[in-house]
Amino acid sequence: MNYIQVLAIGDVVGSAGCGFIRRHLPHFKKLKGIDIVIANGENSADGNGILPASAAHLMESGVDVITTGNHVLRRKEIYDELDSNSFLLRPANYPAEVPGKGICIVDKGRYRLAVMNIMGTVFMENLACPFETADRLLALAKEEGAKYTVVDFHAEATAEKRAVGFYLDGRVSVLFGTHTHVATADAQVLPWGTGYITDIGMTGPADSVLGVKPELAIHKMRTKMPVRFDYEDAPVQMDGCIFTVDSASGKTVGAERVSIK
Ligand SMILES: [Fe+2]
Ligand SMILES: [Fe+2]
Repeated sequence: MNYIQVLAIGDVVGSAGCGFIRRHLPHFKKLKGIDIVIANGENSADGNGILPASAAHLMESGVDVITTGNHVLRRKEIYDELDSNSFLLRPANYPAEVPGKGICIVDKGRYRLAVMNIMGTVFMENLACPFETADRLLALAKEEGAKYTVVDFHAEATAEKRAVGFYLDGRVSVLFGTHTHVATADAQVLPWGTGYITDIGMTGPADSVLGVKPELAIHKMRTKMPVRFDYEDAPVQMDGCIFTVDSASGKTVGAERVSIK
């Protein structure tokens, strides 16, 4: 039986996270026999958001598709690339006027895989319904002949994430959650064969508050004053999840959370 090994990497934070990916991802891919890498890059630029340089850094390090989330529009410099780079996604449920798109097709010869990016709406911006957006994207993936489908669901509320996961169970190969930067312990295969985890975590400084220096986060929370977020250099962790997808059925047979330092 043949399998496709999908590695999903949690929100890459700043140059610390990008540098770690560059140093460790190529070897990690070989070690685990990874076929395709999807990384959330919404925080990959220092100071938040994503820039052309941080996107290029991730792709040159072996990332096939970059997904994003609520920070994607922070830096105007990325807008053109959201339109021109097929493998850089933003949540599909933003209004149509927003640059970019929420789906791409990765054609690796022996298989075609659709990657989709959707954002939650509970405790987040009031975007289009994630359930209806998922239905729309799945129809597009079908039209494109993609047998394998992977969703980055960028959302805050665990209940919304699990609800969308079960809504898509058996209809997508994998759905992984991002945004909270804290990994959850529920990597699993849902009853109808969708690989699922509520949140895959973060790639960035380990001793931090979601990637930010603790003293800065504490200062902001105590005083309500704006602070420019700075990032620690070390030590860094890379959180993610490896999904083993059966190439005959397109269903997932294994989900293993990973965290390396
Ligand atoms: Fe993030
Ligand atoms: Fe986010």
